Amino acid sequence: MLISGRGSNLRALVEHASCYEVVLVASNNPFSAGLDWARMQALLPTWTWDSKGVDTGEWHAALSRVLDDHRVGTIALAGFMRILSPAFVREWAGRIVNIHPSLLPKYRGLATHARALAAGDTVSGCSVHLVTEELDAGDVLGSAEVPILPDDDAASLEARVLEAEHKLYPQVLSEFVNR
Ligand code: GRF
Repeated sequence: MLISGRGSNLRALVEHASCYEVVLVASNNPFSAGLDWARMQALLPTWTWDSKGVDTGEWHAALSRVLDDHRVGTIALAGFMRILSPAFVREWAGRIVNIHPSLLPKYRGLATHARALAAGDTVSGCSVHLVTEELDAGDVLGSAEVPILPDDDAASLEARVLEAEHKLYPQVLSEFVNR
């Protein structure tokens, strides 16, 4: 699993794991709260190397080595804030999935909740998709809709979508590894 931040999806994937097992949590952010949770609460193996200022080829090669060492079959991303290099994505083609807080193909990239609100949408949601070289553009493996309420702001919408993410991701990942 690759994360950079708080790791609430990591927690959902660990706590609702069926048909898969989280064997390693890796991050480009040594201060990720999710990494702490993985280490201290879930007692999972972790790997981190701050990617700032590091040669991208070297960083990705190190990541690939540690994934191989842990016999990782599928890489699940959640809030991983570094764009994976094209070479890395090619090496792991078809084996990297991500969760995105919108109903793809709508709102690829950042600030999805603010954009959905600004557009006056009444429905938002989340999607689990395959990772390809183009950002948030791989095949959608599953999605869940969430209503947008009249008094929502980006924070309240994010919280409602996150709840849906925590249900959707373990389900879709199980189906994906079992396909
Ligand atoms: C989630 O909203 C996910 O959809 C997006 O980044 C956020 C990660 O949250 N890709 P967390 O670190 O899993 O809590």
